[in-house]
Amino acid sequence: MNSKEEFTVQMKRKVAEIEEILKEYLPKPEGYQKVIMEAMEYSLMAGGKRLRPMLMRETSRLFGDETEALCPFMAALEMIHTYSLVHDDLPAMDNDEYRRGRKTTHIVYGEDMGILAGDALLNYAFETAPQESLKIGRALSVLGRKAGVYGMIGGQVIDVKETGHAVPKDVLDTIYELKTGALIECAMMIGAILGGAEEEDVRKVEKIAHYVGIAFQIQDDILDVTSTEEVLGKPIHSDEKNQKTTYVTLLGIEQAQKRVEELSNQAIDLLHQLSGENEYLEQLLIQLIHRDR
Ligand code: IPE
Ligand code: IPE
Ligand code: MG
Ligand code: MG
Ligand code: MG
Repeated sequence: MNSKEEFTVQMKRKVAEIEEILKEYLPKPEGYQKVIMEAMEYSLMAGGKRLRPMLMRETSRLFGDETEALCPFMAALEMIHTYSLVHDDLPAMDNDEYRRGRKTTHIVYGEDMGILAGDALLNYAFETAPQESLKIGRALSVLGRKAGVYGMIGGQVIDVKETGHAVPKDVLDTIYELKTGALIECAMMIGAILGGAEEEDVRKVEKIAHYVGIAFQIQDDILDVTSTEEVLGKPIHSDEKNQKTTYVTLLGIEQAQKRVEELSNQAIDLLHQLSGENEYLEQLLIQLIHRDR
């Protein structure tokens, strides 16, 4: 395995490559509606961890050479993820003013443009992703399903409904599985499909991503309590402000951290059962357990 330093250098390079791809697929600001393209760029290019396109690409590498179909799907998923964040921060939802280290989109462009920029990113994802071929059809249906009412949107709906009161653990698990897990599953499943995986392996990858996704959201809950606004690039104590039940309120920080480790180890064990190998991907999953933003 690479040293921590080598991993960090590799990760920086990979993030920079992904950001080049994102820029390439954004619409050019033009026409009377140009402000919307600017708001899309403002939110998309603010600089997140780019985890989902990275997982997509690294998962595809487990199965074979990179196809040209991959880049538009990487861009499409980061657009959908970014739209979920733009709407998540709106006054009607979590009402937060910082994201990815800068003012949220609705603070800079107004609430109307915040709503529309989110919608625009969602729609543009589906304008960007498709190209012909069977694999693309399978990948597109995963993109649609995991982003929608059976996926991320469904999770956000339950999350908003279950705010302000105690939430049973099984409902909380469903929220995490959908609001956060679904897009992580989407990332890795599309990587597998476009990498040429058989259906059976795509199912295995879905399971790996399921564990990664829930662990990722629990770590997000922990950081909401233990981190700082500077490091995180978004406000801390957002969950307390919104009276959210989280794994931290349910189990306490220590047990929640243990759960993150358990889930991540389950994911890594399953990863070892696939025939392909990707050392960077494995390190990435380990690094997520201890991430500080
Ligand atoms: C934040 O996602 C929202 C959650 C699902 C927890 P990320 O932590 O991946 O946000 P960015 O993309 O790095 O900003
Ligand atoms: C967000 O969960 C999940 C989605 C945006 C789909 P949070 O509300 O905890 O995300 P942050 O903490 O604001 O990034
Ligand atoms: Mg939220
Ligand atoms: Mg939020
Ligand atoms: Mg959070």
